[in-house]
Amino acid sequence: MYEEYWSLKEKPFENTPDPRFLYYSKEHEEGLFRLLYAVEEKKGAAMLTGVFGCGKTVLIRVLLTQLNRNIYQVALINNPHLTSVELLRSIARRLGAENLPEKLTEMSADHFLQIIEEILINNVKDGKETLIIIDEAHVIKDNEIFEELRLLLNFQFEDKFLFTLILLGQSELAERIKKNKQFSQRIAIGYSLGPLGEEETGNYIEHRLKIAGAQRQIFSPQAIKPILHNSGGIPRRINQICDMCLLTGLNYEAKIIDEKIVTEIAESIGV
Ligand SMILES: Nc1ncnc2c1ncn2[C@@H]1O[C@H](COP(=O)(O)OP(=O)(O)OP(=O)(O)O)[C@@H](O)[C@H]1O
Ligand SMILES: [Mg+2]
Repeated sequence: MYEEYWSLKEKPFENTPDPRFLYYSKEHEEGLFRLLYAVEEKKGAAMLTGVFGCGKTVLIRVLLTQLNRNIYQVALINNPHLTSVELLRSIARRLGAENLPEKLTEMSADHFLQIIEEILINNVKDGKETLIIIDEAHVIKDNEIFEELRLLLNFQFEDKFLFTLILLGQSELAERIKKNKQFSQRIAIGYSLGPLGEEETGNYIEHRLKIAGAQRQIFSPQAIKPILHNSGGIPRRINQICDMCLLTGLNYEAKIIDEKIVTEIAESIGV
C-alpha cells in the first residue's frame, strides 16, 4: 500500500522469517555460527533460546539455506504440541518413512525409534547427514519427549552421532532443560539470543529498508531511540512499529519518519 509512496520494491518489515532480510547483528551472527558448527562438526545436540520475536526461526531458515540439501536430510518440526510417540512418528515421517500407523493403539515409541534408527544408519551409509530441528520446543508438555530424544542421541555409528538435533525455543526452554540433567548434558552447543541495542536497531531498520529497495534515508536518526524504547530491541516488535510508521507517514504525506510519528504509533498500537 505504501511501497510506491516510499519508493520501495516490497514491504520491508513483514513479520515472516524470510532469510533474504537477515541482518547480522553480533548475536545473530554468533548464534548462526554456533549452530553451523554443531551441524558441520556433528556435535550431537544444540539449543538456541531467546524471547519471542528475537529471530530464532529466521536464523534456522538461514542455516537451512547454507546447507547442501543433497547431503543434508532435514526433519523440521514446527509444532511440538505432541505426545512423545506422536513426535517420534512426526520425525520418522519427515525423514521419509512410509506406511506409519495412524491409530494411537497401534503406535509404540520403540517401533518408531527402530524406524528412525534404520533411516539414520542408511543415511550414514549413503554419505548423507541428518538434521532434526524442533522449533517452539518450549511448548513441549510431555517430559517423555526429552527421554526419547536422549535415546535417539544414544544411537551411534562408528563412535559418531547419527544426526544433529537442534532445539529452538523461548527462554523457559533453557530453564527446563537445565533441570533435566541427563538431557542437558547432551546439549553440546547452546546460545541465547538477546535484544538489539540502539546502534543495531538503527542498522537493522536500514538493512531491511535497503533489501526492500530503499534509495534514501526514510527513518531519521532521532526516530531510532523511541523505536528501541518501545520495542525493547526485539525485531518482531521493531517490524510492527516500523510498518505502521510507514503507513502513517503516507497518510501524513511525511518526507521522513521522525520521533514524533514513532511515538504516536507506539502509543496507538500499544507495543
Ligand atoms: N536478525 C534479523 N534480521 C532480520 N529480521 C529479523 C532478525 N531477527 C528477527 N527478524 C524478524 O523478526 C521477526 C520475528 O523473528 P522470528 O520469527 O525468527 O522470532 P522467534 O525468535 O522465532 O520468535 P518466537 O519465539 O515467537 O517463535 C521475523 O519477521 C524476522 O524476520
Ligand atoms: Mg519462532
